[in-house]
Amino acid sequence: MLKLHLLKKMVTYKELKKWISWLNDKNITEFSEKRFKKHTITSQKKFLFKKLKEKSSYIFQVKFNSQFIGVIELSSVHILSDGCEISYMIGEKNLHGRGFGTEAIKICLDFARYKLNLKKVYAGINSKNIQSERVLRKNFFRKINIKNQYYRFKLKHDDIINSILFQKKL
Ligand SMILES: CC(C)(COP(=O)(O)OP(=O)(O)OC[C@H]1O[C@@H](n2cnc3c(N)ncnc32)[C@H](O)[C@@H]1OP(=O)(O)O)[C@@H](O)C(=O)NCCC(=O)NCCS
Repeated sequence: MLKLHLLKKMVTYKELKKWISWLNDKNITEFSEKRFKKHTITSQKKFLFKKLKEKSSYIFQVKFNSQFIGVIELSSVHILSDGCEISYMIGEKNLHGRGFGTEAIKICLDFARYKLNLKKVYAGINSKNIQSERVLRKNFFRKINIKNQYYRFKLKHDDIINSILFQKKL
């Protein structure tokens, strides 16, 4: 069974190790700026301590049968007037395609609507990220903007890739 666990304190060492292994996996971070950094226990602890202090972020562990399999976050809460931004990662590649990304987003949308009383959720994705577009579509997000953006795709500096902004009205 899939559950989201709202983080209020530092995760365990074992979980941190798992998390950084996902962040250092080029397949997982293929469409994220995170792929340009080497992630370590120290850098990840620093990142998470900062997040835990932020009033505008809610970060959740995605757990399947109590096993830590991914992370999902609502950010810019109370910064975007009546909405927030969503970002997500199912780090366990062998569990992709089983509906967990879609389900995690759905649970988070309910949290945004019923616990935070927000009206809109935004997601910005790279247009090549088909899986990400699919999980947004399955949660009835709609495309509101496409931007041609200079994007360092696969470490090259000459690619122009569309970035797509999606919105979901709650
Ligand atoms: C995006 C992500 C969260 C999806 O997680 P997931 O658990 O595999 O998602 P789901 O199983 O709910 O749905 C995936 C959908 O993409 C589809 N898909 C996967 N690869 C595909 C491909 N190459 N072409 C077309 N569709 C594809 C699946 O078939 C499925 O759609 P369906 O249910 O209609 O068959 C996961 O791929 C991930 O964490 N990626 C790395 C991090 C990332 O890119 N995050 C988003 C940043 S914006």
